[in-house]
Amino acid sequence: MDATHVNDHAVCLDGRRFRAVAPLGRGIVPGDLVVLTTGTQQVLGQVHGLSLDGDGPRGDPTVVAEGDVLGLLGADGVELGPTAPFVADQVQRAGTAATVALQEKTGATIPVATRTVSDGEVDVRLRPGKLNRHTFLCGQSGSGKTYALGVLLEQMLVHTGITMVVLDLNADFVRLYEVRTDADPALARALEQIDVRVLRPAGEGTDPLVVRYPDLDVRAAAAAMRLDPLVDRDEYEEVLRYREEAEGGRPLDIERLRAPGRTPEQERLHQRLRNLGVLDWQVWAQGARPVTEILDDRHRATVLDLSGFAQPEERLLVALAVLDHLWAHRAERRPTLVVIDEAHNVCSAAPDGPLQAAATERLVQIAGEGRKYGLWLLLSTQRPSKIHPNVLSQCDNLALMRMNGPSDLAEISSVFGFAPPELVAKAARFGLGEVLLAGGFVPVPTVARMGSRLTAEGGADVPVPRS
Ligand SMILES: Nc1ncnc2c1ncn2[C@@H]1O[C@H](COP(=O)(O)OP(=O)(O)O)[C@@H](O)[C@H]1O
Ligand SMILES: [Mg+2]
Repeated sequence: MDATHVNDHAVCLDGRRFRAVAPLGRGIVPGDLVVLTTGTQQVLGQVHGLSLDGDGPRGDPTVVAEGDVLGLLGADGVELGPTAPFVADQVQRAGTAATVALQEKTGATIPVATRTVSDGEVDVRLRPGKLNRHTFLCGQSGSGKTYALGVLLEQMLVHTGITMVVLDLNADFVRLYEVRTDADPALARALEQIDVRVLRPAGEGTDPLVVRYPDLDVRAAAAAMRLDPLVDRDEYEEVLRYREEAEGGRPLDIERLRAPGRTPEQERLHQRLRNLGVLDWQVWAQGARPVTEILDDRHRATVLDLSGFAQPEERLLVALAVLDHLWAHRAERRPTLVVIDEAHNVCSAAPDGPLQAAATERLVQIAGEGRKYGLWLLLSTQRPSKIHPNVLSQCDNLALMRMNGPSDLAEISSVFGFAPPELVAKAARFGLGEVLLAGGFVPVPTVARMGSRLTAEGGADVPVPRS
């Protein structure tokens, strides 16, 4: 044997897992698709683990790659599934043709990212048919989550008919209708046609973001007033009584609570409302259309800017009103994607206060049972442990960006068993915009670079919303 040349080979005993040896210089890395060529056929596989082969010929290091068999490559594309056991004598990184063949076979059509293959760059595409699941996007601050979320939303708007509601805590998506001048012209035209509605706190635009007190689930109303049905029995009962009579969009008629002949419960409720400042919140619809009604108009995307409320309770109340509304109407089975960036604010592992607790509880319910009603979650946060575990465990799609805490990565691996640990470990070294996509929405777990935004990012420089 020529000491400077390595004969590649690969062995697969069960038709499912392979072990391949190839020169280091071939540049195979974990996550790569590889083509293993036998005398008669080509097998498509994916590398998970890689190690240096200590026994390789001197001066020509070799690597041992272990991974999964995906199927057979033929003239008509990929035939997915286990193969017969085989021994291959060529190990090559896959190129564009094999990558595209796999996408075609699995119905992956939505371009959201790119990756480098042996002969150039390919688009990484999502499978629209598998977006009817919950998706978790995770990465440390500055890893590019919000930007990536924007890319996902834009491409879903262009390439699917999904209706989305964005609970936008930091006004990051309030310009989702504003197409960039450097966007691909065809995509730009498509996006311009899409009906994006942005609602903002009252006083900031034509469509104020408000709720109507009588529409609220009674638990939401009580949570807003920090009323416990048992501890505050009398006041709670008073609230129930007034709920039936409430007029306009505000809670209770405070004048009635102060009228002569008032009861002690009314007096206490009056004090409570005054002390909490609940009646001064901008969130109450004073004749304006409430957010729940606007949601029923079914715009393709409804962005709810929660950033401008004076009180943190107001944004939680809007989030809760929206989630309760979607849940209450679940039997109508109107597919809706609920998007929440910085989702730990609404779906906390350790809820703080009754409104956050109620919102978290509703999200746990939607995570558990929403799929059968067409309610899907797309949640983003910095660390998996910040999100309620019962929500996390229901996510079937993962987008993992840079994250270097070993315990966070360990948690990701344990919750998302479908993400190969070797690829999860890579997230510690990811650069800005790099992502591991795993779960049903991609043909195979894929490390990629997010594509470019088509619309303006949110942030400080906010224009007047479109009517
Ligand atoms: N793929 C990308 N291409 C170009 N710029 C990006 C990309 N991802 C993020 N950025 C920029 O990097 C900064 C941080 O990204 P951001 O999405 O806000 O991170 P995170 O939400 O994880 O904190 C922002 O200024 C954003 O515009
Ligand atoms: Mg962000």
